[in-house]
Amino acid sequence: MKLNKLKRWFFVMVKNTGIICLMILVLTAGCASMSSADKTQRQERGINKLVIHTDKGKDTINKNIYGHFSEHLGRCIYDGLWVGEDSDIPNTRGIRNDVVEALRRIKIPVLRWPGGCFADEYHWKEGIGPRQQRPSMINTHWGMVKETNAFGTHEFLDLCEQLECEAYVAGNVGSGTVEEMQDWVEYMTSDADSEMANLRRFNGRDKPWRVKYFGVGNENWGCGGNMSPEYYADLYNRFQTYVRSYSGNRIVKIACGPGSENYPWMTTVMERSHRRMNAISLHHYVRGTGNWTKKGSATQFDEAEWFALMKNTLTINPLLKNNIEIMDRFDPRKRIGLFVDEWGTWWDTEPGTNPGFLYQQNTIRDAVSTGIFLNAFNNHCDRVKMANIAQTVNVLQAMILTKDEEMVLTPTYHVFEMYKVHHDAVMLPVELQCGDYQLGDEKIPSINVSASKDTSGKIHITLCNLDPTKSAELVCDLQGTRPSSIIGRALTAGAMNAHNTFDNPEAVQPDAFDKFDFEDDILTVTLPPKSVVLLGIK
Ligand code: AHR
Repeated sequence: MKLNKLKRWFFVMVKNTGIICLMILVLTAGCASMSSADKTQRQERGINKLVIHTDKGKDTINKNIYGHFSEHLGRCIYDGLWVGEDSDIPNTRGIRNDVVEALRRIKIPVLRWPGGCFADEYHWKEGIGPRQQRPSMINTHWGMVKETNAFGTHEFLDLCEQLECEAYVAGNVGSGTVEEMQDWVEYMTSDADSEMANLRRFNGRDKPWRVKYFGVGNENWGCGGNMSPEYYADLYNRFQTYVRSYSGNRIVKIACGPGSENYPWMTTVMERSHRRMNAISLHHYVRGTGNWTKKGSATQFDEAEWFALMKNTLTINPLLKNNIEIMDRFDPRKRIGLFVDEWGTWWDTEPGTNPGFLYQQNTIRDAVSTGIFLNAFNNHCDRVKMANIAQTVNVLQAMILTKDEEMVLTPTYHVFEMYKVHHDAVMLPVELQCGDYQLGDEKIPSINVSASKDTSGKIHITLCNLDPTKSAELVCDLQGTRPSSIIGRALTAGAMNAHNTFDNPEAVQPDAFDKFDFEDDILTVTLPPKSVVLLGIK
């Protein structure tokens, strides 16, 4: 009997009869028919089994989990998104057409702006009115460069309209005033005959914008004012009072949550402010074995560095679980959303670039890390209602890199494109038993997964093989469904550091994938090493 057939038969027997001694017999027979190389590999890796409960989904994966973040930092806004109306680079009212089109292709649902750390030193009134009359400032967080304020509120909200996405504006608590924040919300969203609404009309925008999401500060435990959680929670309660819902714009108020494992911050802010918030943020950046001073190269690394990133990325699961447990204590009905509004990989800046600009390359390693993050958000979608990768263009784990009129889509972009099938679909519970990816004395699970069912009933499974050198065979039991067709796509590469450059922009791209078969109700998939795989099942 061929090995695949034998495994399927074995799985059906286990599933249908549960006769343990038969299992042992079959397993022994199976092992006898394997080549010794197969046998060693299976002994090393174990059998990978996945059960997908296709009829048991109840929570929806909010499409905002696939959100983005753009800060006045380096070349994200200027060059990346904004080139100005007089630029030779094709643009619409100063905003790059190529970047807008690329982001629309991944159905960007929401965009956070203007920071980040920049948000708590941004004074929005400097970024409205005729551009040549706007005062400039120094961007003290990011490279001490001149900020011209050419890109301000009107330009950002025009960008969101061009992208057809929701706007998420982060307000200034660190160095701003309550009045300034109140005025901003009124300026953007009020239809009244009021001072701020009339100022907006005077500046050329008659109708108010829809601004659904408003953040009250950013990282106020650090760059946003170095506050204690008690002090911030009191300030939050005060500032948010004046963040009003005008003219039918129901605003979602977001409190500043912790960075990574700062559980005391989450506990105190939830305890003091949970009645006054709609969401609370969480930030989580990952890297390899490096530290804040030497984070490691984005492209020059060995397998130990690959392993370290995979291991560190998997910390998102306990991190979500622990923060959610704290939230559950104060909000057992899960009214408040957890918004992971900054996440991603953070490497040393590319040699020869301004260290304050956080410009980094992006490889298949970043892509697999992205798949793991997004699977985690999907699997916790009863509480995680938004996530915003940092950042959209030319900064940190960017979707897009630009050089003058050229644009490169990164491997991370391709993962977002593949995963868009999960937007607003119902998350399907999964049970995964898999072998380890071992390096030296350390091991981590080799496979990572999430699944969903869309409104047409189509099931999508996204799988990552974390092991950069070994393929992984996975046997899936699709409980509650009888597929009539299955199609696949995969993102993988030959080298661990494969990436797209301006000279070779299509080195890492998704391809059609057919290394699976379905027989006797069992789906068997062979995941290539270092891959992100999407299966669509009807
Ligand atoms: O994304 C870069 C920076 O990381 C943001 O400005 C800040 O919020 C975080 O520390």
